[in-house]
Amino acid sequence: MKFPKKASFIEVGPRDGLQNEKVQIDTAVKISFIKQLKKAGFKEMELTSFVSPKWVPQMSDAAEIIAACSDESRNIVLAPNEKGFDRAVASGCSSIAFFVGVSSTFNQKNINAATEESLSRILPLVEKAKDRGLFIRACISTSFYCPYEGKIEEKDTAAICREFVRAGADDLSVADTIGMASPHEVYSLFSRLREEFSDVLLTAHFHDTRGMGLANVLAALQAGIDRFDSSAGGLGGCPFAPGASGNIATEDAVFMLEQMGIETGIQLDPLLDALLLIQPSLNRSISSRQFQLRENAVNS
Ligand code: HMG
Ligand code: MG
Repeated sequence: MKFPKKASFIEVGPRDGLQNEKVQIDTAVKISFIKQLKKAGFKEMELTSFVSPKWVPQMSDAAEIIAACSDESRNIVLAPNEKGFDRAVASGCSSIAFFVGVSSTFNQKNINAATEESLSRILPLVEKAKDRGLFIRACISTSFYCPYEGKIEEKDTAAICREFVRAGADDLSVADTIGMASPHEVYSLFSRLREEFSDVLLTAHFHDTRGMGLANVLAALQAGIDRFDSSAGGLGGCPFAPGASGNIATEDAVFMLEQMGIETGIQLDPLLDALLLIQPSLNRSISSRQFQLRENAVNS
């Protein structure tokens, strides 16, 4: 098996991890969570979303988060439309993630428009962002399966990626939104995308709903992928994708790669400390292996 010497983790906990939490978390707690996560060494992080507060109230403090947490590293924010894009730019953001699902039913539930219409609204914003010299991430949801439409064809995912690359995207984050893809499907799609989109960053975004997350990381590595979205504590999920549980836990994925001799640049102790800051605000326990192991060691 061939593996890269290094891999990058894009921490999405403050955004994907928290957006699904029903109880509103204090902005100050989110800020200390993000600041502590940064001590673990992430060079890229999704901090928040400039989405409609009516749709996702948890993200309504996006501007305050950005004001408190901006620094030299790549701080990415999501924008669903022109209003979100303008809010993000007004807040001083220079890295924007646009998101569209391959499945029309999912898009209808998530952003209130079918796929074609969503793309026709978002692609001009991508071009606008390109003209301003911003870093552009394209998040492609339901790239393997949709909770409403079932199996997604590889060619349909590739077609959406192509549209984003044509408009100027720098990074394609290709997501298994409901954690349904098998390692075989992951290897197949990412091999195809790696070959076609050799000039852009390509990131794998896995949710661990059915326990295939780390196996899928391995499959993606085999397909030439060396960038992974992950969430501290395995927090997360999309409010409009029933059955989507958390992302792969950053600490478990980092541990696996480091054990394999793949450098990640991420320190586990500060990362696990960040989870101690956010845990009291969550309605549930954190079940990642590394977090549990450290808790057991502390309590024994
Ligand atoms: P809509 O209701 O069709 O929008 O929602 P609208 O244009 O009719 O506006 C409705 C109201 O929202 C108006 O306010 C707007 O001003 C306001 P009112 O006039 O009623 O007072 N509004 C906004 N306010 C602040 N910021 C904005 C904004 N836009 C409108 N940006 C819309 C359409 C796209 C806005 C909505 O559906 C939305 O915000 N959706 C976001 C859903 C979301 O955040 N989903 C999770 C992120 S995607 C994800 O998690 C997947 C990913 O992790 C990858 C994977 O795992 O698959 C990335
Ligand atoms: Mg996600």
